[in-house]
Amino acid sequence: MRAWEIVSGDGVDALNLADRPMPEPGPGQVAIKVHASSINYRDLTTIEDPISRGLPFPTVPNSDAAGEVTAIGAGVTKFQIGDKVMSCFFEDWAGGPISKAAMDSALGGARQGVLAEQVVLDAGGVISMPGHLSFTEAATLPCAGLTAWHALTRPAPIKPGETVLLLGTGGVSVFAQQFCNIMGARTIVTSSSDEKLERMRDLGASDLVNYRTTPDWDARVLELTDGVGVDRVVEVGGPGTLQRSINAVRVGGAISLIGVLTDAGGEIVPTNLMRKSISLRGIYVGSYDMFEEMNRAIAVHGLQPVVSETFAFDDAKSAYHRMRGAGHFGKMVINVN
Ligand SMILES: NC(=O)c1ccc[n+]([C@@H]2O[C@H](COP(=O)([O-])OP(=O)(O)OC[C@H]3O[C@@H](n4cnc5c(N)ncnc54)[C@H](OP(=O)(O)O)[C@@H]3O)[C@@H](O)[C@H]2O)c1
Repeated sequence: MRAWEIVSGDGVDALNLADRPMPEPGPGQVAIKVHASSINYRDLTTIEDPISRGLPFPTVPNSDAAGEVTAIGAGVTKFQIGDKVMSCFFEDWAGGPISKAAMDSALGGARQGVLAEQVVLDAGGVISMPGHLSFTEAATLPCAGLTAWHALTRPAPIKPGETVLLLGTGGVSVFAQQFCNIMGARTIVTSSSDEKLERMRDLGASDLVNYRTTPDWDARVLELTDGVGVDRVVEVGGPGTLQRSINAVRVGGAISLIGVLTDAGGEIVPTNLMRKSISLRGIYVGSYDMFEEMNRAIAVHGLQPVVSETFAFDDAKSAYHRMRGAGHFGKMVINVN
């Protein structure tokens, strides 16, 4: 079977397509024939800079897979051969608060990833697919989908009528829009592209702000909320956007801090966080329990993940190049088998 490997710090073009022995499941594990693997910004940055992350060579990239169970190790009762399943981003985060042990079980990072024709995973880190989804669609859920769900449901779920600010139109933000639709929340979406903003309107976004043509987008968000500010921000920008997100959130509101798409930016003024009593909460994907909860909501509402582009397994490098160009909308998926 074949697997893509990170074999150096030389980036996407240095990825190696290797032939490997077929992995067999040990006790407590299942083997999965991977049909699709979605890519996340984190997979791109891991490939670009594996050395500062201390990754061994070779490391298989990607956390997100959907496929079917082909073999079952001793002691596994929860799956049968042929079951349609997804990988969990963390193999060892069943529920409750995140722990160091959970963080050390991230696929495509601390543990080997899933951009391979066949993988073996601990059964506790494998979850059933919602029945109405294709493998391509299901492969988008383990990281971007679950992160958006976590950001909108913890520490308390968004209430109907609340306003949520979404930054950009990447994988996490598009899922957040779809979940806000389910929750009855109003959204304000920023993007660098009017065309992508229109696609967000088609998905249900209430208000749109182009952050290129409106660099003071925080002021526009305040205008759109009658000077009050939003209830929650799904913050994927990081240093370059956080201060404006702080400006745009209401007194007593919350910021779910997810990403670092910008690696440089203005000064963050902690006083504003304190004076406005804003809750700033770091989010790291989510637990198995959250994943099950999200899948139930997806199934009940028949939610279809937005897959804007697919790539052949042999052409995986093009997917990462495309992500670096940020031309995509929502999720990109590599079809494996
Ligand atoms: N903490 C976690 O658990 C977790 C989980 C998943 C992702 N993340 C992080 O969250 C971030 C987003 O991930 P993703 O997979 O959704 O990425 P993605 O699909 O690559 O999203 C890229 C999009 O972000 C938008 N963007 C870039 N710079 C922006 C800025 N200054 N202001 C507003 N939007 C901006 C752009 O949207 P437009 O083209 O519309 O302008 C771009 O297309 C990444 O930093 C990723 O590492 C963290």
